[in-house]
Amino acid sequence: MRIGIIGAGNIGSTAARLFAGAGHEVVVANSRGPETLEGLVREIGANARAGTVEEAADFGEVVMEAIPFGRYGDLPAEGLSGKVFVTASNYYPERDGGIDLGGRAQSEFLARHLPGARVVKAFNTIYYARLAQNGRPEAPLEERETIFVSGDDGEAKEIVSRLVEEIGFAPVDAGTLAQSARQEPGSPIYNVPMSPAEAREALAGMS
Ligand SMILES: NC(=O)c1ccc[n+]([C@@H]2O[C@H](COP(=O)([O-])OP(=O)(O)OC[C@H]3O[C@@H](n4cnc5c(N)ncnc54)[C@H](OP(=O)(O)O)[C@@H]3O)[C@@H](O)[C@H]2O)c1
Repeated sequence: MRIGIIGAGNIGSTAARLFAGAGHEVVVANSRGPETLEGLVREIGANARAGTVEEAADFGEVVMEAIPFGRYGDLPAEGLSGKVFVTASNYYPERDGGIDLGGRAQSEFLARHLPGARVVKAFNTIYYARLAQNGRPEAPLEERETIFVSGDDGEAKEIVSRLVEEIGFAPVDAGTLAQSARQEPGSPIYNVPMSPAEAREALAGMS
């Protein structure tokens, strides 16, 4: 699969390594330009290239953003239309400034800003070092660490869930984009390593 990654810091570069390692082709982008990502793509190897943000969006069948959420306005709405779009970012007002989400979940707010994008909320609750180290593709799903996956587009959620499985984690369906508020910073499931059974139990207690 072709995967575009917008934001190549802690979480974006980790995801890029894992997806490339699982045999996917990745194009990574940041705000400073492809030339600043040469070291990263060289280290990842043949499955990785650096591009502009627009190139990453155009390239990906799946596109992930892992940028500070306050920069959401820089995401290329036109290029992301029709794409399976993973939002891994989190809204931290102290970092991102005041953004009026209109009472919506961050992912719902972003979906309204990106019409046509098939938005899936995932990868936002796992600390990047655990993402880098805890994948166990050889283990049964029930013994793996959870990655929560939310969205309103069932097929898009399926595609992202398969990617989660390929890199050795267990996708747990956390519901709709509106329900993805349950996986935002401050929630009891945020940045807590959980087995799928623990994750499902925690979600059940939150609804
Ligand atoms: N750190 C974690 O463990 C973790 C886990 C889950 C979710 N998250 C969330 O994921 C997001 C990224 O976190 P991080 O820790 O990976 O941050 P980070 O290490 O600071 O990396 C941010 C990346 O986003 C890029 N970027 C910034 N503004 C951009 C723009 N306008 N267009 C394109 N790229 C842009 C940066 O590129 P330049 O350096 O060129 O500006 C950098 O590559 C945050 O919203 C965070 O809350 C983080």
